[in-house]
Amino acid sequence: MKCILVTGAAGFIGSHTTLVLLNAGYKLYLLDNFSNSSPIALSRVAKLSSLSKKEAQERISIIDGDVRDFSLLDNVFSTSKRNGERINSVIHFAGLKAVGESFEKSLDYWDNNVGGTITLLKVMVKNSCRNIVFSSSATVYRPKNEAALIETDPISPINPYGITKATIEKMLADIGGCQSTASAQQNSSKGWRIACLRYFNPAGAHPSGEIGENPKNIPNNLLPLINQVGIGRNKSLTVFGNDWPTPDGTGIRDYVHVMDIAEGHKAALDILLSSKPQLLIMNLGSGKGTSVLKLIHIFEVTNGIKIPYEIGKRREGDSAISLADPSQALKYLQWEAKRSIEDICRDAWNWQYKNPIGYL
Ligand SMILES: NC(=O)c1ccc[n+]([C@@H]2O[C@H](COP(=O)([O-])OP(=O)(O)OC[C@H]3O[C@@H](n4cnc5c(N)ncnc54)[C@H](O)[C@@H]3O)[C@@H](O)[C@H]2O)c1
Repeated sequence: MKCILVTGAAGFIGSHTTLVLLNAGYKLYLLDNFSNSSPIALSRVAKLSSLSKKEAQERISIIDGDVRDFSLLDNVFSTSKRNGERINSVIHFAGLKAVGESFEKSLDYWDNNVGGTITLLKVMVKNSCRNIVFSSSATVYRPKNEAALIETDPISPINPYGITKATIEKMLADIGGCQSTASAQQNSSKGWRIACLRYFNPAGAHPSGEIGENPKNIPNNLLPLINQVGIGRNKSLTVFGNDWPTPDGTGIRDYVHVMDIAEGHKAALDILLSSKPQLLIMNLGSGKGTSVLKLIHIFEVTNGIKIPYEIGKRREGDSAISLADPSQALKYLQWEAKRSIEDICRDAWNWQYKNPIGYL
């Protein structure tokens, strides 16, 4: 049985990916320090899976700990060996992700994101594990307002969060013996199998409404902000700028359903484990752009509720348009986003409606 360590497993994308991996038959070591998540997410994942309670208990080990803790991580690898189920791959979600906050708390972002990844890689090297899927981000690109972003576009992030992601990509390319991070596929001369998945705007929730996006602090992403207005926690939504160079003046983003993103991780892992050592750098996006005002409209029509909004100032670190060219993911991973923007709005609201105060 394939055995995987998932860091940041209780988070938004981690919990949905964990569900997909459980249903696909993997044994999972799930690590999280719960700084931005709840252990309840993982118990719900177990219940949602196709496994019996006993099977789920056998297939999941939960570790409450920090990815920056070398001895703890090393111990997880040793435990997996003792249990005769050696961890052979890592999916690395753990990290901080709020663009705005990354300006104020830059050191925390370097420590958590870059520091955490260095520790993880050292432990992997010590335990001869050289397969990793890393959560990168569209923020690594220099914003380009006319056309979709492709993997060979210049890497030039405009906020500290994006800089940490670009730094980690570069580090992974170096340890894999690869030339650069500006190519969708390169062979690794050092025996590593690495996928850096550049997510665009993951959104939505599992259609059951049992798991979803549950930020502990003020949400950074648009769907949770809309949800908070829908549920009555906030009176209205602030739209960050209507003077962007876009048709309706509001920012255009590429929203991609979190279940599509979760399936993208399984696709990446399957390809990595069945092919030669290589570095894959892939956009995970839908290739379709939706403006803030259009998203509000679709959310209102899909869910039959009104979302009052007001226009505020532009937000530091934002750009007018961020849109993926997802063709490399189709070519190399046979992955493409299947769910629509309506699915995203419906599932996001279903989660919020069923869980008005999140996992509490
Ligand atoms: N959601 C997005 O819009 C988006 C877009 C691009 C990239 N990403 C990246 O994807 C990954 C997952 O994002 P998400 O939306 O699920 O975020 P999330 O905050 O919901 O999940 C991250 C998880 O990591 C945990 N964590 C944070 N620091 C940790 C540490 N030092 N040790 C152990 N656990 C730690 C948190 O408690 C949380 O459960 C992140 O690396 C993020 O930067 C997210």
